[in-house]
Amino acid sequence: MNILITGATGFIASHTIVELQQDNHNIIGIDNLSNSSIDIVDKIAQITGKKMEFHKVDIRDYDNLKSVLSGKKIDCCIHFAGLKAVGESVAKPVEYYDNNIGGTITLLKVLNEIGCHNIIFSSSATVYGTPAFVPITEECPKRICTNPYGWTKSMIEQILLDMQNANKDWNVVLLRYFNPIGAHQSGIIGEKPNGIPNNLMPYITQVACGKREKLFVYGNDYDTPDGTGVRDYIHVVDLARGHVKALNAINNNCGGEIFNLGTGHGYSVLDVVKTFERVNNIKIPYEIAPRRPGDIATCYADPSKAEKILGWRAEYSLEDMCRDSWNYQQKN
Ligand code: NAD
Ligand code: UFG
Repeated sequence: MNILITGATGFIASHTIVELQQDNHNIIGIDNLSNSSIDIVDKIAQITGKKMEFHKVDIRDYDNLKSVLSGKKIDCCIHFAGLKAVGESVAKPVEYYDNNIGGTITLLKVLNEIGCHNIIFSSSATVYGTPAFVPITEECPKRICTNPYGWTKSMIEQILLDMQNANKDWNVVLLRYFNPIGAHQSGIIGEKPNGIPNNLMPYITQVACGKREKLFVYGNDYDTPDGTGVRDYIHVVDLARGHVKALNAINNNCGGEIFNLGTGHGYSVLDVVKTFERVNNIKIPYEIAPRRPGDIATCYADPSKAEKILGWRAEYSLEDMCRDSWNYQQKN
C-alpha cells in the first residue's frame, strides 16, 4: 500500500516505517521537524535498505500539504504528528489545541480532497483518565483528562468517529497506546527527548549513563503491590507492528474501530528499575519523591481485542525493553 506517515521522523513513527517497509509498503513521510531531526530518514534507510519519500511539512499548512500530496495515490494515512509533553501542554494549552487538533483538521481536509478515506490515529490510554476498571478494555468509559494534551487525544478521537459516522467512505482506526519504551534492536533509532526527560525509561537511561545523578520515584504510597505507580510498558517495535496489523482492519472496511495496544502486564516503577539493573548490570540510584500531580496508581491494558481482530499481540518482555533502551542510549 502507499502510506502517508505524519510525524514520520518521530520516535514511534520511525519504528513503524521500518516495519512497514519490511512488509513492502511504500512510504511518503512528512514532519515539521519540531521534535525530531532529518537524519532519521537516512537512519531508517540504513536499517531497511529503502529510502522513503520525505517532505518537511507542517500539517497545519494547508497550501504546502496540498501541494505535496496533490496527484498522489495514498491508500492510508497513519497520523502520528502531534505535540506530546504533558507538562508543556498545561503551560501552553492553545499551542497544543492548535497543533494537535488544528493540524488534524487541516490534514483531514486535504485527505478528503485527494480521495484518501483511511486513517489510523495515534491515541493514548490517557483518554481513560483514572480508569473505571483494570485491565482496561476498549469498552472502559472515557473520562475527564487531567491535562490539555490528553484532551487533544480525546477530542481528536471524537472528531474522527463523528466524521466516519457522517461519511461511511471513511475507515478510522484509533490505536490507544499504553507506555511505549525500548528501541530498535540495531540501536540506530530510538527515543531522544529534548531537555530533562519527562518519562520514566529515558530518565533511567540518562541516570545509567551518568547524565543525571539519580531517579526520582514519584510516590511510593499508591495502592499497588510496592506502592509505586503501575503501567503497561510496551516495546516500541511491538507497537510498530500493531500499526502494520491495523492495516488489515482498514482493508476490511472496518468503519470506526478502537484498539488498545499494550501487553496486558502491569509493572511498577521499582519493577522497571530492578529489571533494568539486572539486565544491564548497572546500578540506578533513586530517591522516593512526592507523587507527580495528575498521575494515577495503575494503568494496564486488556489487549485481547487487538489479538482477536487484528491477529496482533506484543512479544517482547520488560527485559527486552530495558536492554534495547540501554543499547540505544549507549550508541547515541
Ligand atoms: P515524537 O515527538 O517523537 O513524534 C511526533 C512527531 O510529530 C515529531 O517528529 C514532530 O516533529 C512531529 N510534529 C509535531 N507537530 C507537527 C506538525 N504540526 N506538523 C508536522 N509534524 C509535526 O512522539 P512519539 O512518542 O513518537 O509519539 C507519536 C504519536 O503517538 C503522538 O501523536 C503522541 O501523542 C502519540 N502517543 C505517544 C505516546 C508516548 O508515550 N510516546 C503515548 C501515547 C500516544
Ligand atoms: N515516573 C517516576 N519518575 C520519573 C518519571 C516517571 O517515578 O522520573 C513514574 C510515574 O510517576 C509513573 C511511571 O513512572 O508512575 C510512568 O511515567 P511516564 O511519565 O513514563 O508515563 P505516564 O504513564 O505518566 O504517561 C505516558 C505518556 C503519556 C500517555 C500515557 C498513557 O507520557 O503521554 O503514558 O499512554 F498519555
